[in-house]
Amino acid sequence: MSRTPLFAGNWKMHKNVKETLEFLDDFLPLAKDISSEIAIFPPFTSLYAAAEKIKGSGIKLGAQNMHWEDRGAFTGEISPPMLKEIPCDYVIIGHSERRQYFAETDDTVNKKVKSAIKHGITPVICVGESLEQREKGMTLSVVLAQVEKALSGVQIGCGNDLIFAYEPIWAIGTGKVALPSDAQEVIGAIREKLCKLYGNVAQDIRILYGGSVKPDNIKDLMAQPDIDGALVGGASLDAKAFYQIATYN
Ligand code: G3P
Repeated sequence: MSRTPLFAGNWKMHKNVKETLEFLDDFLPLAKDISSEIAIFPPFTSLYAAAEKIKGSGIKLGAQNMHWEDRGAFTGEISPPMLKEIPCDYVIIGHSERRQYFAETDDTVNKKVKSAIKHGITPVICVGESLEQREKGMTLSVVLAQVEKALSGVQIGCGNDLIFAYEPIWAIGTGKVALPSDAQEVIGAIREKLCKLYGNVAQDIRILYGGSVKPDNIKDLMAQPDIDGALVGGASLDAKAFYQIATYN
């Protein structure tokens, strides 16, 4: 079993090109001390500038979404080959904000996951329950159904072919981080499900926690056996805070 911790910064709709380069001016010198893997997910318009700037730094780059088709009449969409050209290593698929506001469904998530893997882009697949679902005791059934549907018909060669992020919707941008034991319970159940689907190779699949991760709560989350890093929103916009998260020890 080998799972290198990953700290991924999902910038959402923040930072233009200038702000992206300013962030990297601050972050690149700090990143030299980080032993975990780091990936940033700027908006599409900043990807190329970021890719040029991080060359040789070891920092990985990802997009926040993509279409599953290679090309075609899909106004406003971005294809996997376009992301490969940048080049992007990762792509976030199925973030709850896309499910909630942009009609992302389990079916489109599944299509995008298959397409990303086919193009050699690692999908970071987001799953998570709403507050109402948690209060009704439906967390595990909701999350495991999302996992199963995302992976329907998906073959993997090794554990590095995909990444999951468990992001309880009620914890995103609210300052209400999940209890580490609650996050572990769900993430442990996701790993069990992955073991059923893929056998032992699932021990190598990284599963991140996301939702109000900050420098002062990351250590307890990382102490859980199945949590392999974090998908960080707000706190990843600040170079120092993101550095502190990635060096939680
Ligand atoms: O994808 C990251 C995310 O949704 C969490 O956002 O701001 O709560 O860290 P935030």
